[in-house]
Amino acid sequence: MELSNWDFYWAGDQEKDYWQKPDPAVLELIENHPAGQFPRVLDLGCGPGRHALAFARGGYRVTAVDASKMALVQVEERAREKRLKLETILGDFRTTLFAPETFDLVICYNVVYHGLREEMVRGINQCQQYLRPGGLLFLTCPTRDDGKYGDGEEVAPHTFRSGEKSVHPGDLHYFSDCQDLECFFAGLEIMSRKKKEHYWKQDGIVNFSSYWQLIAKKK
Ligand SMILES: C[S@@+](CC[C@H](N)C(=O)[O-])C[C@H]1O[C@@H](n2cnc3c(N)ncnc32)[C@H](O)[C@@H]1O
Repeated sequence: MELSNWDFYWAGDQEKDYWQKPDPAVLELIENHPAGQFPRVLDLGCGPGRHALAFARGGYRVTAVDASKMALVQVEERAREKRLKLETILGDFRTTLFAPETFDLVICYNVVYHGLREEMVRGINQCQQYLRPGGLLFLTCPTRDDGKYGDGEEVAPHTFRSGEKSVHPGDLHYFSDCQDLECFFAGLEIMSRKKKEHYWKQDGIVNFSSYWQLIAKKK
């Protein structure tokens, strides 16, 4: 099982504006699901913590997990600066990190597709296990229309070792279609599924992003 190392990326001069600004869809999720009803939140693959910090600001009890130590150092620093409380854990989404039903809400934003299809399935199954019945999973992952699809070596069907189009070249990325999502979320009730698309710039080059945004409830 290969584990990518994002420390170098997070230690560098990455696009700080992008990584510090929460996705408005996550802010909407917070607005619609207050801490009173969903107190325990897991941000799995939190990166430098834009979403973990937004939840902490909203009064949730937040656990932020990432495989990159550097990402966690940055979350902790920013939490200290903003006088927000959260817990950080160095961990791999493919392994069991928590007891069943530990969380009311799990957010997994652009994380579980890093790897092979079966690893993505394992990651989503872990998220499902961590949720209490009625708990929510918010997850994003790229579609097969994404500009990175086809970039780099295809190591398995729809799985590419990304080239320069990725912010983290050398990573494995799995690209899902609708049938995949039905299968990955079979144990959950899908509340909303959106296909979102936009252009973004990296080092002056325009890239096309196409991704699924799902909100699902544990049955
Ligand atoms: C594209 S970034 C997204 C960061 C954050 N969710 C956000 O939206 O700002 C992907 C993150 O997933 C983490 N990651 C990749 N593979 C992982 C794994 N197997 N277990 C835990 N985290 C992982 C990386 O370290 C990185 O911080």
